[in-house]
Amino acid sequence: ASSGSGSSAKVLKVGSSIDFAPFEFQDEGQKEYQGFDMDLIRAIGKEMGYEVEIQNIGFDGLIPAMQAKNIDVIISGMTINDERKENVLFSDPYYQSGLTMVVRSDEQAIKSFQDLKGHKVAVQIGTTSAEAVKKLGGVEVKELNTPADCFMELKGNGVDAVVNDRPVNDYYITKSGETGVKALEEKLTAEDYGIAMAKDNTELQSKINEALKKLKENGEYDKIYAKWFGG
Ligand code: ARG
Repeated sequence: ASSGSGSSAKVLKVGSSIDFAPFEFQDEGQKEYQGFDMDLIRAIGKEMGYEVEIQNIGFDGLIPAMQAKNIDVIISGMTINDERKENVLFSDPYYQSGLTMVVRSDEQAIKSFQDLKGHKVAVQIGTTSAEAVKKLGGVEVKELNTPADCFMELKGNGVDAVVNDRPVNDYYITKSGETGVKALEEKLTAEDYGIAMAKDNTELQSKINEALKKLKENGEYDKIYAKWFGG
């Protein structure tokens, strides 16, 4: 915020891993970050009277960046879980998600998560997918920087499956018109996304929850939801 006279807007420094369409992504030739999370945090900031500044930070670097005080909040399709709660506070849940997998269209051997044993699977590093796949046991896990890297690895036969968040898998397959790969229906987990802030920042947590509640009441949340996920 500027310290000059007049109205100086408060700034909300947001971190997000811009690699997760339709939640956070950047289209070629477009400078604004887009997606459901981007619209939501901008609406929350507006509601709170804050100017929103978004920084693109790799997913596994987000919590460290917040601990280093480089950012105030994280919105990045981040799943609320106990392990993370040891290091951050979460807002109320804002989106229900879960993990599914993507395989090549001609895949015969992998029809369910149980079939992953003995196979190579790509996941984004630092995610709940990485955790969940390791827990399955007997799977060779390749942790890559972005979901796009994971899909590329799948198409190049470097792995036999990608485990990733369902809405991102679905969007990838429908929007890219991708025919070489398909998403399976089975869900490995059900997960809720939350906005994260520093462990001691209960004040910001209440402000964000209030803003979120307001947006749910006044229809703004539903508008943003419909924009990215339809009706
Ligand atoms: N929901 C998963 C998690 O919390 C994946 C989130 C990945 N987000 C991203 N912007 N790449 O671990």
